Amino acid sequence: MALDEAALDVLGLAPLWARRGARTASRAGGEGREGREGEAGMPAAEQSASTPNSVAPAPAVRAEAMPSTELGGPDRLDTPDPRDAPDQEADALLEAFGEVAEHPSRPTPTIDRAGVAALDWEALEARVAGCEQCRLCEKRTRTVFGVGDREADWMLIGEAPGENEDKQGEPFVGQAGKLLDSMLRALALARGENVYIANVVKCRPPGNRNPEPDEVARCEPYLQRQVALVKPKLIVALGRVAAQNLLKTDASISSLRGRVHRYEGVPVVVTYHPAYLLRSLPDKAKAWADLCLADDIYRQALSERAGE
Ligand code: URA
Repeated sequence: MALDEAALDVLGLAPLWARRGARTASRAGGEGREGREGEAGMPAAEQSASTPNSVAPAPAVRAEAMPSTELGGPDRLDTPDPRDAPDQEADALLEAFGEVAEHPSRPTPTIDRAGVAALDWEALEARVAGCEQCRLCEKRTRTVFGVGDREADWMLIGEAPGENEDKQGEPFVGQAGKLLDSMLRALALARGENVYIANVVKCRPPGNRNPEPDEVARCEPYLQRQVALVKPKLIVALGRVAAQNLLKTDASISSLRGRVHRYEGVPVVVTYHPAYLLRSLPDKAKAWADLCLADDIYRQALSERAGE
């Protein structure tokens, strides 16, 4: 793997890289995989509660209590749009009265799972662009379908578009996107080159709130179809909301990190959302450990395929 020290500088992980590079070289000489946690400044493994989709314990990523920002707040960085406030208040009131916060004038459409599962790229993109499956369509500027190499080995899945993504129609284009690009560079990857990036929901939730379960459910066939078409060897779930929705669990991100899960049969590694990392610099080292785990899983998948 080519070293990209500039990218690691951005991540604040250049010294880790130097050690990883040294270790990679020695691994090529027959050394085992131990020691990564030391390189990433992490103590020995601490495994936690399993989830329905988790398949295998993975090495040595410490599960720690997350600061409340990662546990509760929106992952996206953009500031809430004040125009959205009345809507959110109305939703909160409706929920308080146990009602479903659906737009009163729009009947709930049925989800055409089988139809979506049969679409090719072009038809899928068109279907998403015209989607009115949930009320997120009412306030979006653009749908955010996904971007990158449609035959990529790596698929990165975030939560939902933020303000910039809603304007530009591309995932992760704000500050968090820049950090994500640096993280990819550190792995000798790039947006669009063996990487495909998508979100759990394709429209921006007003005020950057977390997507509602119903919104996720209505968007899921699109993501499932994207995964089926890309056929990635590995999925990286970016942030708590993406991970919980993909893996259908309420488990904390700290308990989901450091293990290999599955989504639609594809191995999934969970890491922090780049927007969260921008606010919490110390956790970049943990994110780097997650990416190293992802890289290991990827390489394992490659060598298994070579041995077939
Ligand atoms: N955060 C996400 O989860 N996805 C985006 O596309 C942008 C920010």
